[in-house]
Amino acid sequence: MLEALVYVSAANPEISDSDVEDILEVAKRNNFADQLTGALIFTGTLFVQLLEGNPRNLDQRMRSIVLDDRHSAVIALARGSITQRQFPSWSMAYRAMDGLTADRLHAQVGWDNSVKKLLDTIPYQHSINSLTTIFESILDELQH
Ligand SMILES: Cc1cc2nc3c(=O)[nH]c(=O)nc-3n(C[C@H](O)[C@H](O)[C@H](O)COP(=O)(O)O)c2cc1C
Repeated sequence: MLEALVYVSAANPEISDSDVEDILEVAKRNNFADQLTGALIFTGTLFVQLLEGNPRNLDQRMRSIVLDDRHSAVIALARGSITQRQFPSWSMAYRAMDGLTADRLHAQVGWDNSVKKLLDTIPYQHSINSLTTIFESILDELQH
């Protein structure tokens, strides 16, 4: 049984590049051990993460992720069964975004820059398939 989940969270405003490097180092190690794969996008304000794997391993990992004070307001956008992984060879692919791309993604996930908050309407408005398409462009770039 394979599931994917996508969540969005607000990065701690004091987060540094080395914090993000630490997150990735630990994520790659743990995820490899748990057979979790996925991708993390950092827009400068928000994290958007896709995680794929066995539902039990996903639940367990999310329990520690939500408690991490390097981000807050972790909101699941979608979760569902998948037939194949989108990032089969990535324990955790990573992409930081430039301002313009970030603005587009913020709009897609329901982040209102003017009031700096996640709009109430977003949770589970998306299907897991429509959300994983957000990550498709990242995959393309990583493979080229
Ligand atoms: C945005 C964000 C994404 C994270 N993604 C992962 C991840 O994919 N896998 C992981 O093991 N830890 C991830 N972490 C780190 C976890 O919160 C936690 O520090 C880590 O899993 C170590 O937990 P443990 O002490 O229970 O092993 C992430 C943290 C943040 C802030």
